[in-house]
Amino acid sequence: MDIDWKNLGFGYTKTDYRYVSNFKDGMWDKGSITEDANVVLNECACVFQYAQTCFEGLKAYRTADNKVVCFRPDMNAKRMIESAKRLEMPPFPEDRFIEAVKKVVKANIDWVPPYGSGATLYIRPYMFGTNPVMGVKPATEYQFRIFVAPVGPYFKGGAKPITLRVPDFDRAAPHGTGHVKAGLNYAMSLHAIVDAHNQGYDENMYLDSATRTKVEETGGANIIFVTKDNKVVTPKSNTILPSITRRSLMYVAQKYLGLETEEREIYKEELAEFKECALCGTAAVLSPVGKVVDHGKEICFPSGMEKVGEITQKLYDTLTGIQMGRIEAPEGWIVEV
Ligand code: PLP
Ligand code: COI
Repeated sequence: MDIDWKNLGFGYTKTDYRYVSNFKDGMWDKGSITEDANVVLNECACVFQYAQTCFEGLKAYRTADNKVVCFRPDMNAKRMIESAKRLEMPPFPEDRFIEAVKKVVKANIDWVPPYGSGATLYIRPYMFGTNPVMGVKPATEYQFRIFVAPVGPYFKGGAKPITLRVPDFDRAAPHGTGHVKAGLNYAMSLHAIVDAHNQGYDENMYLDSATRTKVEETGGANIIFVTKDNKVVTPKSNTILPSITRRSLMYVAQKYLGLETEEREIYKEELAEFKECALCGTAAVLSPVGKVVDHGKEICFPSGMEKVGEITQKLYDTLTGIQMGRIEAPEGWIVEV
């Protein structure tokens, strides 16, 4: 294997093995590891017609003492169960999800990037309705799969801070799929993302679609802010994805760094009062935001453009320290494969 781990971006690489399990006649089969990366489905499969699909994202890390671990896979399993229920899909059981993640990472162990390379192994569990469905109704047969791919940073440009713009687009999906990690939510966001990139921005800072006054999240990550008196605040909303990274960072802020945290409604109008801003997620990890542009009005965070803010850096170092085995983790956060 000849991979330049240090210069990997966030993209797909075909690795050796993937996990597959099928749901038919009301039950999941026992599942297996396969080499076949292709999925062949009927033209009328529910996933093609009505986008009945959801996914998850987590990572495997090589630790300082050369173990391979996953970060809180139980949280992804639980969130995927919620996504599945909301889309009328049969949930894939939590214990089987964790076993499948371990199996597929073990099968691809040589693809887990070395400790200290800056790269990690991204794990993508997903499921979709497979049988033909013409009327608008859920499928009765499903496939659950997991593939893995080594990845580098989600945002290009290394240490360069991120610039967001407040778009005119709402990301809301038809019929409001809410905060589940579902295919249609993301399909509806693609136009806004392409438009942001075309205009030179890294991402969109979406607002709540009901009032368009409150900060929600970006296309692929949640948002955290730091106040001038070092409080870590993050939007309270039931229409954003409940980020596992965000929940972990709030815990780290309180328990490891002794900082106050608050989940509350955050108005666009108060953005200029914050000292630091960063995007958090499995792919984004914790990426500093330098600037938000709201229809020509620029809001620059005092830290962020030139250097990473002090609290953002501490949060980043502690979270990645836990993930890479340099700092003791809270019980249950680290699962060895
Ligand atoms: N918000 C969106 C829209 C995402 O796609 C993601 C990534 O999964 C997140 C937030 C971050 O969630 P997590 O920290 O669980 O990866
Ligand atoms: C993740 O962080 O796991 C994501 O899903 C973000 C993005 C790739 C959609």
